[in-house]
Amino acid sequence: MTQDELKQAVARAAIAYVVENEIIGVGTGSTANFFIDELARIKHRIKGTVASSEATAARLRGHGIAVFDLNDVAEMAVYIDGADEIDHSGAMIKGGGAALTREKIVASVAKQFVCIADGSKLVDVMGRFPLPVEVIPMARAAVARALVKLGGTPQLRLKPGTQEAFVTDNGGYLLDVAGLSITEPKALEEKINQIVGVIAVGLFAARGADVCLLGTAEGVKTLKF
Ligand code: 5RP
Repeated sequence: MTQDELKQAVARAAIAYVVENEIIGVGTGSTANFFIDELARIKHRIKGTVASSEATAARLRGHGIAVFDLNDVAEMAVYIDGADEIDHSGAMIKGGGAALTREKIVASVAKQFVCIADGSKLVDVMGRFPLPVEVIPMARAAVARALVKLGGTPQLRLKPGTQEAFVTDNGGYLLDVAGLSITEPKALEEKINQIVGVIAVGLFAARGADVCLLGTAEGVKTLKF
């Protein structure tokens, strides 16, 4: 099976976690896009969604699915999203698609976090995928220096094909931090959160996944944390 077929399989399996007549939190990225396309088939069975990025909101609306402002939503049954890496405790690296801050906010409101990922994303120790950190633009260099002290090698994310900084939906910049071996994800998340100028870190450990639907050649495996 190709990676896209594995992503499609987990996206389809995630439909079983959609709670009828409720608001569903929807992530960002290629796996989340497959999920949105599956969700469109049962859109009449949900109240609506909250999107974790402008791109996700546009895709949901394109399917005629209602998108609510998070400020108008008091409760959310489930949040469904992909990951760049997930470990055996359900902690994740996210933000390869640049939406980490809104993903973290939407996930924090949801009762259950369902991660959908192809099998290549499951790792023993996270950090091979550079850890995204969203920062206030004027704090870029100061935060980068603090991340170097933590043992990482931060690199400013650029708009593809340019030398200009990539700008997130929130007006932030992204530092992709290579060289970290994340053996204590909660402790590292807490440390990076404390650096002044950080908007959010793409380490989802304090609030990790409750369930991971993992696409493998033998079928979709369900991991519970
Ligand atoms: C976006 C994310 C994505 O969930 C993550 O990058 C995985 O993406 P994909 O499903 O395309 O592999 O965190 O900010």
